Amino acid sequence: MITAIVYNSETGSCERYARELSRALHIPCEPLHKNHVRSDGKVIYVSWVMAGKVVGYPKAAKTLDIAAVVAVGMSPVTEKLTAASREKNQIPFGTEFFLLQGGFNINKLNLPMKAAMTVMDKKIARGLKAKQAQKPLTDQEEATLNMAVNGQGEPAAWDCSEVINWAKKENQFFTQSRVLAK
Ligand SMILES: Cc1cc2nc3c(=O)[nH]c(=O)nc-3n(C[C@H](O)[C@H](O)[C@H](O)COP(=O)(O)O)c2cc1C
Repeated sequence: MITAIVYNSETGSCERYARELSRALHIPCEPLHKNHVRSDGKVIYVSWVMAGKVVGYPKAAKTLDIAAVVAVGMSPVTEKLTAASREKNQIPFGTEFFLLQGGFNINKLNLPMKAAMTVMDKKIARGLKAKQAQKPLTDQEEATLNMAVNGQGEPAAWDCSEVINWAKKENQFFTQSRVLAK
């Protein structure tokens, strides 16, 4: 049974998704802390992507029973990127994995991160502008381009319905199995 959402957010996107999941699933959400333990059930772990890695995941997985990882990045989400992210982060078979587009705000970052992203943003913008010259961008690509050019911006949509639907089914299945076992 999924009983909580645990999130790790640098600039607010993961917190926003965690709050939305909490509201829709009627379970609490809380920020990740050191040696985080929850003994009452499984959790959905929501965290941001930094250089392809889901921040804090390996440590969180040591103390929490993670049913699903929700990775949030500024990139456009594709099936290929989702599969590659799952592999790069070594999410085990049996743990659900979702990749969502979040926002970006360079002004909320510390100096080293700001410096890294100033360089990255230029590269991202170059790539997407070259693509745009060939064919129209998707809504998520447009959103990423906007974030890269302006140093801040929102995703194409704050949509975590896929995670909500999956978690509802998961908890229904758990409740039904308990009833049948009685
Ligand atoms: C240093 C740094 C590296 C990042 N690397 C990636 C990345 O590899 N892929 C990606 O999609 N987004 C990347 N991002 C963007 C964040 O994952 C994105 O802005 C996310 O929504 C932040 O979530 P938060 O607002 O909860 O902190 C990076 C951001 C920073 C600051």
